[in-house]
Parts: sequence; structure tokens; C-alpha cells
Amino acid sequence: MPTLKIDVRTSTVGSPDLVTFLAKGSPLPAGVPASEFDAAPCSTVLLRDKNQRTIVVGLGEKEKIEPDTLRRAAGAGIKQLLKLGSTDVALNLTPYADHAGAAVEGAILASYKFEGFGKDASKEKRGALARLQVLVKESELAPTRAQVRDAEIIATTSNTIRDIGNLPGNMLTPAILAEKAQELAKGRKLTVRIWNERHLKRDGFGGILAVGRGSVNPPRFIVLEYRGGAKREAPIALVGKAVTFDTGGISIKPGAQMDEMKWDKMGGLAVLGMMLAAADLKLPLNLVGLIPSAENMPGPDAYRPGDIITTRDGKTIEVLNTDAEGRIILADAIAHARLTYKPSAILEYSTLTGAVVMALGHTRAGMFTAEEKLKAPFIAAGKATGELVWTMPVDEEYKEGIQSEVATVKNIGPREGSACISASFVKTWAEKTPFVHFDIAGVAWTTKPPAHLEDGATGFGLRLTLQALRAGLPV
Ligand code: BES
Ligand code: ZN
Ligand code: ZN
Repeated sequence: MPTLKIDVRTSTVGSPDLVTFLAKGSPLPAGVPASEFDAAPCSTVLLRDKNQRTIVVGLGEKEKIEPDTLRRAAGAGIKQLLKLGSTDVALNLTPYADHAGAAVEGAILASYKFEGFGKDASKEKRGALARLQVLVKESELAPTRAQVRDAEIIATTSNTIRDIGNLPGNMLTPAILAEKAQELAKGRKLTVRIWNERHLKRDGFGGILAVGRGSVNPPRFIVLEYRGGAKREAPIALVGKAVTFDTGGISIKPGAQMDEMKWDKMGGLAVLGMMLAAADLKLPLNLVGLIPSAENMPGPDAYRPGDIITTRDGKTIEVLNTDAEGRIILADAIAHARLTYKPSAILEYSTLTGAVVMALGHTRAGMFTAEEKLKAPFIAAGKATGELVWTMPVDEEYKEGIQSEVATVKNIGPREGSACISASFVKTWAEKTPFVHFDIAGVAWTTKPPAHLEDGATGFGLRLTLQALRAGLPV
């Protein structure tokens, strides 16, 4: 990705192309008839002056403008200008300085596109954003600069994890993911520890080992620590599923769309991004990121239905379906978080179930928690970032579905309520530690992207969580 230079100013320098924003009912620019432009959200009209192009982007009704309105609108404007070959762009945010952070985020997110490998580049006619000028009034310069600096960190990190996320299974194995985490942590105030198979055996990570056994690409466990808070303060643990490819294993998946299971690692990547961005933002918090990573394959040594495995804290799992693998690697990681760090809360992100996609579609992630006070902060953060969540239940009753005759629990239960049953499965390993499970199966990647995103990995969870952490979680 080329480096982008961003500055916040009161007027442009040079001759950038311009993005301006217009709410419904505001006077239209000269020469634009109302029949051609109704200022609906993300609708655009292109104006050409001698040496400058201006894209006017609609915001819809004034009363309904939210941060995400500007985020998407900026994305729509930037995408159009990039198609026209622009590299130097100014966002006119004079009337909307409050949402400058969101607009810059939208611009940076929209400038990302997965390059691919060896495809016909002649079809591509797309500039790379090199310079972004953010225009606001004199009195808004200082607060806007602060907003824009944070937005740049968050959106750039999001693009980094989207780019790794879009790599296919043959190019991103657990070992390669671990190497990337190590490389990215370099030069940041983060410590990284990687467990290979030998270390996993030594320390009793039976879940990660079981899921990884079917693949010639061995599993890894990645732990990143960030200490920005008081020495004695317990950290918040962030746990993310990183299955680099999920065939289903011996309980193999049907072939249709199985390629999409290259994105079964996005929970883990969201956590990696949270840690990188937390360090860059210098958040005054202690955080630990735990990323169990495996490739779920059928193979001569694969784990099988009926197997009983022992996880990091001694709890056992009766495997009845090897495709319910995410919860098995998460069990080890959550237990490790609890036993090693005594965290004040565990937040866990995973593309865990097809069932949550049936329930919520591709609009919202399921947020499962028994902690009443942790709900509101994430609902608010969802509204601010456009990464929406919906609260789902994890009542004790759901545990009945996974009672086993031969182990602590079994890894599947009845189909009815299976997103909730799966949540109660992973929660078992958190024991009494406040726990929130985000099932991001429906939102981790997209084939119908909103204006600020592209097909492929969305990075969902990263922006949501940083917003909640910056606002302060009641833990
Ligand atoms: N990675 C899948 C869940 C998934 C499915 C994510 C579709 C995104 C889109 C997970 O490992 C899985 O296979 N879950 C099974 C569980 C079942 C066997 C109880 C599922 O949801 O079908
Ligand atoms: Zn699976
Ligand atoms: Zn999976």
C-alpha cells in the first residue's frame, strides 16, 4: 500500500480534486438540476472546472446524519475520484467537522483494494490515494487534527488486516500468520509470543492441537501483550478465532462456496488489528490479544467424531462434528487468558456459526453476553462506527444442549438455537470472568459492500472495539 499524506487545513494547497457533501434541502451547486441529483445518501454528481474535479456526495436528510453517513459518503466520493485517476484529494468538511474522523476513515477504507496476484492489470484504471487534505474552519483545526490522527491509525490498521485476511489458505497458514504478527509488532510497544506444536503439547493446548492435526500446516498460538495502563491493573483479554481454512475436517463441508472459508480467520485478524492500533493510539489500558490458529483439514492424522480431547484448563470436549472447530481452539485460548492473566473481561471474536447468519444476515454481528453493563458500550460503539451489533442471549438453559455423557461438554447440540448454544459453549471456559462473544460469521466479509468497503474482508470488530475501548468499558 502506498503511503498517504494527510493534512488538516482551512484551504487547499496545489490543485486537488474535491469531495463536498450536501444534505437534502440544501441549495444545489450551480448548474446541477434537481432532476439529476436528489442528495440521497451516497448519491453523487461530478462537476468539472478547468483543472479541478468536484464530486458532490449526498447525505440524505439533515436530521438523520450520523458518523456513518459521512464515512460512507466520503467512501463513495473517494472511490469515484480514484476511478478517474485522482491521487490528490481534498474533503470539504467545513460544515461537518464533528464527523471529520469518520469521513477520513471512510476515505482511507475506500482506498483499499485487494491487489490479487498476476491478474490482468490493464483492466484496472484506478489511482492510488497519495494525498488527502481535510478542510475545516480555523476554530476547528485542533480538535479535527486529533480526530483525524486517530482515524488514520484505525483505518490504516483496518486495511492491513483486510489485506492479510484476503490472502487465501495456501498463502496464509497458521505459521505465516504468526510471522506476520511478529513482523507487525516490531517497532511497536507490543510483546509477542508464539507457541508452535511442541510448545502447545508441553502446555496442554489439546484443542488447538486436535483441530490442527489433519493439516500439514501445523497450528500456532499467538499472544500479544500491550501495557499502556497502570502496572497492577488487570488487562482486558481479546481472543480471536483464526482458522486459516475451514474444510470442516472429517465432517467435511459441501463444496459450494467453500472457498469463503479462507475468511474463517477474521476474528483473529480483528484481534491482531486491535492490538496494533491500541499501541499506535497509546491507549491508557492493559490489553492481551490471544489468537489460536489452525487449518481444519481432513487427513490421515485428523481428529475425528467421537474423539475426547482435553483443553488447557483440564475441561474435556466430546467431538461430535469436526466442523464445529472454532469453539475448540477458542476453549484453549479463553482458558489460557483466564488462568494466565486473570483479566477483568474477555472479549472474543469469531466466525463461529452459520446460524448467526440465518438470524441476523449480513447487517449485524451477534453479541452474546450475560454482563448487562457491557451491552450499552458496544451498542453505542456500533452506532458510531457502523459496525452494528445485536444482543443475543446466553442463558444457562442453552448449556443443556451440550451436556455430554463422557466429557465436560460435547461440541454440538441441537440445531434450534445453535448460535446461542455455541456461545454458551465458549463461555464455559471463561468461568466467572465477565465474557462477551461476538459471532461475526455474517459480517467478517462481504459480497455486497457498502460505499466505503470492497468485496472481501471487512475487518469487522476492529473499529467497533477500539471505539468502545477509547470511550471506556465499565470493567
Ligand atoms: N466457520 C464455520 C461457521 C461459518 C459458516 C462462518 C458460514 C461463516 C459462514 C464454523 O466452523 C462451522 O462450520 N460451524 C458449523 C457448526 C455446526 C457443525 C454445529 C455451522 O455453523 O454450520
Ligand atoms: Zn467449521
Ligand atoms: Zn470455522
